Amino acid sequence: MQHPTINPLGDTFGAEVVGLDLSQPIEPAVVEELNQALLDNIVLVIRDQDLTAQEFRNGMANFGEPMLQHREAFRLPECPDVSRIINREKMRPAAMWHTDHTNHERPPKATILYARKLPAEGGDTCFANMYAGLDNLSEDSRAQIEDLVTLNSMEPNNPTYSAGDRDEFAQAVRHPMVRTHPETGKKALYFHVSKALDIDGMETPKVRPFLDDLLDQAIKPENSLRHHWTLGDVVICDNRCAVHRADPNYDQAEERLLWRIILQGDKPVK
Ligand SMILES: [Fe+2]
Repeated sequence: MQHPTINPLGDTFGAEVVGLDLSQPIEPAVVEELNQALLDNIVLVIRDQDLTAQEFRNGMANFGEPMLQHREAFRLPECPDVSRIINREKMRPAAMWHTDHTNHERPPKATILYARKLPAEGGDTCFANMYAGLDNLSEDSRAQIEDLVTLNSMEPNNPTYSAGDRDEFAQAVRHPMVRTHPETGKKALYFHVSKALDIDGMETPKVRPFLDDLLDQAIKPENSLRHHWTLGDVVICDNRCAVHRADPNYDQAEERLLWRIILQGDKPVK
């Protein structure tokens, strides 16, 4: 039986898991402990993994149901539930704060990244706790967003989406800006800054500055966490209460490759 140890990472959220091999069976009691640790800590860093794509997929299925990702060209042929995140093939680091795949009716509850190739320096991924992000808003902003709904679509200018991707996700999807986490019952601020192209009742040109201002208010050093990658790290982030971004400040001549899995989530509710 595996007996992983879970250690706090940041002052306020995030934990690392050591002594766990995702390629091996995990006892149900340990699976339950890890899932609870994700709810409690929002981000888990599982150290020292050496996995094939299929092992990665099967190991992460202990946390939920892997979900097919858009960007069909980046799915691994040998295991389509695993996609590549790479600074090549017109893909750019996602440098703005966001939560993944909000153009889906049931966006992923978690995003999982597995470091495969890293630049010599930099290439960090940053996370922010959006339970705290909601609390950080001014009273006026909090009241203003209480009943607002975003309309989420694929970014029109992103060259990594195929015509097939765009056909499949042509319809804008509505989500509440304040969502209640289906497992913890706590409220969090919820939006993808570049997929929320519109907000019900707001003129389109006002949307992006409005969202940028909310992010400025919401994300402070106290509720953010910077992950400096080591090869073999697997990082799980609870997308229902966190946003993330890639720090693009590294030598783009060097390749950075992460494998990504996303896990099926629920339809967000207020
Ligand atoms: Fe992302």
